[in-house]
Amino acid sequence: MPVEQGKSTKRIIIAIDGPAASGKSTTARIVAGQLGYIYIDTGAMYRSVTLKAIRQDILDELKRSPGSVDVLLKEISIRFDGDRIFLDGKDVTEAIRENLVSREVSFISSLKPVRDRLRAMQQELGRQKGVVMDGRDIGTVVFPDAELKVFLVADALQRAKRRYAELASKSAGLLRLPSLEELEQEIRERDRADAEREHAPLKKHPEAVEIDTSELTIDTQVSKVYDLALARIQDDC
Ligand code: DC
Repeated sequence: MPVEQGKSTKRIIIAIDGPAASGKSTTARIVAGQLGYIYIDTGAMYRSVTLKAIRQDILDELKRSPGSVDVLLKEISIRFDGDRIFLDGKDVTEAIRENLVSREVSFISSLKPVRDRLRAMQQELGRQKGVVMDGRDIGTVVFPDAELKVFLVADALQRAKRRYAELASKSAGLLRLPSLEELEQEIRERDRADAEREHAPLKKHPEAVEIDTSELTIDTQVSKVYDLALARIQDDC
């Protein structure tokens, strides 16, 4: 049930950061629905840029010469419509979840021109407030003044199990379902790359509320974040 958006109800920005498969997207989507807010999955935006690089077959060139990323960014449009994401006008919601994209997205998201462009788009999307945005740098870089910042963590094996279950439930579109070990390895590798990169690395903002979701059900995660959000909305009225 969306929160009553009466005159006195202030709309806030909720930033949810954390490592891969920590439950950010599911939690953020449900909380946004409960509050009547929009939900922005910024990982999907980095995945879309990565998919564009794969489709243009320029990944190797970018790895040799990262400066050439401007060609990729010159003409790009990324648009959300409900749960769907459109890259240059085409629905890429499923394509951005392919394993090849997951393997290459840390490289693409380490490039400063990519981060600068996507940060500007994200700030524009959140300008009107009433938004739940999840990613790696939302509380630290994109919206450091967000009224509520949440940092979700969970142990790597638990996260790999969740990703495995998610992929298995959608495996019809995949060429090959990765093993649990492969997924855990990929998650650990991505954690390392996201936390160690030079620009906007994954880290907890000092004001962020940390929630360890290893042993939590989705319902519990959601209600913790929802309660925090209500408290901030009431504080800010
Ligand atoms: O949330 P996800 O696993 O779909 O994100 C994919 C990748 O995108 C992640 O490994 C790092 C990058 N990313 C980022 O650098 N900054 C964000 N705000 C969101 C995602």
